[in-house]
Amino acid sequence: IHSIIFDTDPGVDDAQAIAIALRHPEIDLLGMTTTYGNVDVETATHNALLLAELAGREIPVAQGAAAPLIKPRHAPPAHIHGANGLGNITLPTVSGRAESRCAAQFIVDTVNERPGEVTLVAVGPLGNLAAALQLDPTLVDKVKGVVVMGGSIREGGNVTPVAEANMFNDPDAAARVLTAGWPLTLVGLDVTHRCVLTPAHMARIEGGQGELGRVLAGSYAFYRDFYQSALGIDGCCPHDSCALAWLLRPELFTTSRGHLSVVTEGDAEGQTLFAPEGRGFIEDRWSRTPLVDVCLGVEGQTVSDWIAEVLA
Ligand code: BDR
Ligand code: CA
Repeated sequence: IHSIIFDTDPGVDDAQAIAIALRHPEIDLLGMTTTYGNVDVETATHNALLLAELAGREIPVAQGAAAPLIKPRHAPPAHIHGANGLGNITLPTVSGRAESRCAAQFIVDTVNERPGEVTLVAVGPLGNLAAALQLDPTLVDKVKGVVVMGGSIREGGNVTPVAEANMFNDPDAAARVLTAGWPLTLVGLDVTHRCVLTPAHMARIEGGQGELGRVLAGSYAFYRDFYQSALGIDGCCPHDSCALAWLLRPELFTTSRGHLSVVTEGDAEGQTLFAPEGRGFIEDRWSRTPLVDVCLGVEGQTVSDWIAEVLA
């Protein structure tokens, strides 16, 4: 069983991943922490509470970063996720409320209550994890692991030619989190672009989930248009679910160990740079950061089928 805190900016593909986290028997979802990104942070919190309620679960939701650590905020991509983050479909009313603690404090408290047991799964901009590290640098030795959906090593970006959205939305936070020295795996576009949730997958999911299925299918229909125009595929990339697929089915991925950094200024802002372990460079600064694992390969079809299977 994996005890996780899910850090998220829901978001259509976040919602799919949240549904997995809420229903997979091998996941103990200790809480969700929210950040701005696909939507503003209040909407993110609302959507996290809503999805938990639709699944009939009482899960703590702690609100976090409303903006990047340092730089000004980019406008949320309403044409991709909808202004409400869930494809502009009509949503039921939410009755639950967020925790009084902020996201970073929730992360610090929860990890300290269970040292060595908690995995942080982060699928939005990384401000909450960066803030938690600032509050308590000892988290680095107390988490069981950190899984980040974000970045791109060889695939190129989805916001700019080199930057992936979660990195682009707060490169300064990403730089701190990816070089903190905790046991971290990056699940980036190199693998998430190999996975496609097809309309056939979604038909299975819609059929099996009641009201939650209606929300997942309705938001998917909106999100699909973007993938048609951007990547020419019929379906959508389930980016954030891939982070959970990595956690639960690591044998479906290939990883490489090395040093990671994030470009924080200029045209390449948000780009992730990866130097494989043991590879020498003329400039040696690339090997000074702690080692992490990055996913470079995936059995995309199997992961996509797995997502549909879990949610059907
Ligand atoms: C990531 O950016 C967000 O739009 C998605 O939810 C995902 O976390 C993909 O680049
Ligand atoms: Ca996300």
